[in-house]
Amino acid sequence: MITLIAAVAENNALGKHNQLLWHLPNDFKRFKSITTGHYIILGRKTFESFPKPLPNRTHVIITRQKGYHYEGCIVVDSLQKAIDICPKNEELFIIGGGEIYNQSIDIADKLDITKVHHTFEADTFFPSIDMEKWKRTSAEFHSKDEKHSFDFTFETFLRK
Ligand SMILES: NC(=O)c1ccc[n+]([C@@H]2O[C@H](COP(=O)([O-])OP(=O)(O)OC[C@H]3O[C@@H](n4cnc5c(N)ncnc54)[C@H](OP(=O)(O)O)[C@@H]3O)[C@@H](O)[C@H]2O)c1
Repeated sequence: MITLIAAVAENNALGKHNQLLWHLPNDFKRFKSITTGHYIILGRKTFESFPKPLPNRTHVIITRQKGYHYEGCIVVDSLQKAIDICPKNEELFIIGGGEIYNQSIDIADKLDITKVHHTFEADTFFPSIDMEKWKRTSAEFHSKDEKHSFDFTFETFLRK
């Protein structure tokens, strides 16, 4: 099972200047609870946007750079090698960024999306979700509050 997990604005924005565009603590909590204990596949730029690797997850970093190394992480030079290195019969998570989502949405089985109900200026975007191919199986709306500047909805899509 290959799952893409992403927080996506109304205009599909994901990030700008290699950073996220919002701070939504309950989205971080959801991301942590879904991905902890699993293999996570990510592009080199997303990896470098983190201050340090995320605890209790096996990072599989995709880069074309020869000799790229980070202690405790797996480094590969293609999406296919990243998938092949993950244990079979386990859900694996592709956590971004835009380049990697674009290359992997057509082979994914599931999308765990946090839809952020706002439009942002951005330089990185999630691919559009083709509703001919995907069925939204759950949606949980959360209103903005003192800790969350934007309304957001946790959504799950399964391939039809
Ligand atoms: N909102 C969200 O949920 C979310 C999630 C993740 C990331 N983001 C945001 O997305 C942005 C980063 O995304 P991005 O699209 O710029 O970069 P990215 O997808 O994280 O990484 C791109 C890098 O991955 C490597 N790569 C990509 N395709 C490859 C392939 N086929 N074979 C080998 N290597 C490959 C290349 O690394 P080299 O250049 O080293 O060769 C490329 O520069 C940031 O703003 C981040 O904050 C948002």
